[in-house]
Amino acid sequence: MTPKISVIGIGYLGAVHAASMAELGHDVIGLDVDPERVAALQAGRAPFHEPGFDELLRRGLASGRLRFTTDYADLAGAEVHFLGLGTPQRADGMGADLSHLRTAVAALAAVLPARDGADTLVVGKSTVPVGTSRELAETLEQVAGVRLMWNPEFLREGFAVQDTLTPDRLVYGIPDPGVRDQRVEMLDAIYAPLLEAGVTRLVMGYEAAELVKVSANAFLATKISFINAVSEMCEATGADVTDVARALGMDDRIGSKFLRAGVGYGGGCLPKDLRAFLASAEEHGVGEALGFLREVDAVNERRRTRVVTLAEEMLGELAGRRITVLGAAFKPDSDDVRDSPALDVAARLLEAGADVRVTDPEALAGATRRLGPERVVAGTTAALHGAELVVLLTEWREYRDLDPAATSELVEAPRMIDGRNVLDPRDWAEAGWEIRSLGRAPTPRPAPRPTPLPSGQRVLAGTTPSRQDIALAAARQLARA
Ligand SMILES: NC(=O)c1ccc[n+]([C@@H]2O[C@H](COP(=O)([O-])OP(=O)(O)OC[C@H]3O[C@@H](n4cnc5c(N)ncnc54)[C@H](O)[C@@H]3O)[C@@H](O)[C@H]2O)c1
Repeated sequence: MTPKISVIGIGYLGAVHAASMAELGHDVIGLDVDPERVAALQAGRAPFHEPGFDELLRRGLASGRLRFTTDYADLAGAEVHFLGLGTPQRADGMGADLSHLRTAVAALAAVLPARDGADTLVVGKSTVPVGTSRELAETLEQVAGVRLMWNPEFLREGFAVQDTLTPDRLVYGIPDPGVRDQRVEMLDAIYAPLLEAGVTRLVMGYEAAELVKVSANAFLATKISFINAVSEMCEATGADVTDVARALGMDDRIGSKFLRAGVGYGGGCLPKDLRAFLASAEEHGVGEALGFLREVDAVNERRRTRVVTLAEEMLGELAGRRITVLGAAFKPDSDDVRDSPALDVAARLLEAGADVRVTDPEALAGATRRLGPERVVAGTTAALHGAELVVLLTEWREYRDLDPAATSELVEAPRMIDGRNVLDPRDWAEAGWEIRSLGRAPTPRPAPRPTPLPSGQRVLAGTTPSRQDIALAAARQLARA
C-alpha cells in the first residue's frame, strides 16, 4: 500500500499527528530512527502518557490506515510528508539544535522520487528559528516537484489529541503569501475535515509562520514569569499572590490562564523555545528588543531556588531530612520530565543532602532515569510515609484532592510546601499542618482548642483556663456530686 501521508519523527508531536491523520481517514506511515519507539507504536503501545492517544493509536492500527517504520525507503510515493523532528537546545549555547531536522530532510530528499509530474508536499511542524524553512526548502526543492511549507504545531501535552483534531487555528507558512500557491490547496485537502468543522486557517510567509509559534511560547512563558515576579513582590510585602492573580485575571484583556503563581514552567518546549528565540533575535541584530526574555528565564529559575530556601526555612539544615516530592512530570496529565521543575527541585534538595523520595502517577520512569531508582517511590501513600516535609510540585488531581487530616496520619511531621498554589492553606493549617505556599504569607496554625471545662463552669472571654483551673473545677464538681 502506498501511504498518502508520512510523518517523520514520531515523538509527542509526530505520533499524535500520525494517529490523528489516520483518524481523519488518510493512509499514514510514521517513521523514526528509534527502533524501540517504532516497535512499541506498531504493537499498539503508546510510548508516552497522553489522554486519548492509546485509543486513537489502536483504532488507526486496526483500520489498516496507520503503520510505522524505521526505513526511509518506505516513505517514497507519499504525497505529503510531515516533519515532527525535535529541535532541542544546542549543547553549546541557547540556540536551537537543527541537526535532527537537517539529517531527516537530507534522508527524505534522497528517497523522494519524481511522482509522474505530481507535486510532493513537505510540511514542517517542528518549532524552528525564523529562517529555517527557507534554508530547508533549498535542499528539498532541488528534487523536482517537491515543495515545502511550514505549519507550526500548537498542541499542549495532556490535550494533544484534542488540540490536533480541533486546533484553535491552522497556520500555513509559504514562501510568498502574495502569490496563489498550490501548496495551500494540497494541505487544505489533508485538513479538509477540520476546515469543514470551521477551524480558521491563516496563510502567511515562512518567517511569520515560524515567528507565530516562537512568539506564542515566549508570550506564555512571560505571562507565567510575570505573575511569579509579582509573587516575589508578594513575599516581600505580605500580599497574597492568589488574590492578586484572581482579580487580575478577571480583566478580559489579561485573562486568568497562565496566571497561576508557582514553581514555574518547564517541559520540552517553553524553556528551550524562549532561549532559541533570544539567540535568534541576537543573530538578527535585535537582541535588545527581546532582552527581557532573559529576565523571564531568570524569574522562572528563581522560583525553583525559592522552594529550596522555603524547605530550609521550615527544616533548618536539610542534610539527612526526609522530604517527599509529589510530582515528577513537568505538568499533570503528562509523563514528560524534560526540564521538569519538580525533578530539578528534587535534585537540588538531594544536592543539599536531604533524603528525598519522589512520586508521580505517570512519570516514574523519567524520574528514575534522572534521580536513580532508590529515590523513586510508586504510590502516594508509600511515598508520604515517614516524610518530615512534603513538597507538591506537579498539580495532579490526586495531589490537589489530598485530605489534610488523612495525609497527616502518613507523615512523620505535618509540613507542606505547596509549589503550585493548589491547596487551601487554611484547611491544611486547621488540620495541624505547617504549610507554606509560593507568593503567600505563612498561614498560622490555629491555637490548640482549650480543653472543655466540666459542665457548668465558664471561662472569661479571652482567657484560656490553666491546668490548675481545670483541676479545681473538676474537684468542685466532684464535691457537689
Ligand atoms: N511536545 C509538544 O508538546 C510540542 C508541541 C508543539 C510543538 N512541538 C515541537 O515539535 C517538535 C517535536 O517535539 P516532540 O516533543 O515531539 O519531540 P520528541 O523528541 O518527542 O520527538 C522527536 C522524534 O524525532 C526522532 N528523530 C530524531 N532524529 C530523527 C531522524 N533523523 N529521522 C527520523 N526521526 C528522528 C526522535 O527519535 C524522536 O522520537 C519540536 O520542535 C517541538 O518544539 C512540540
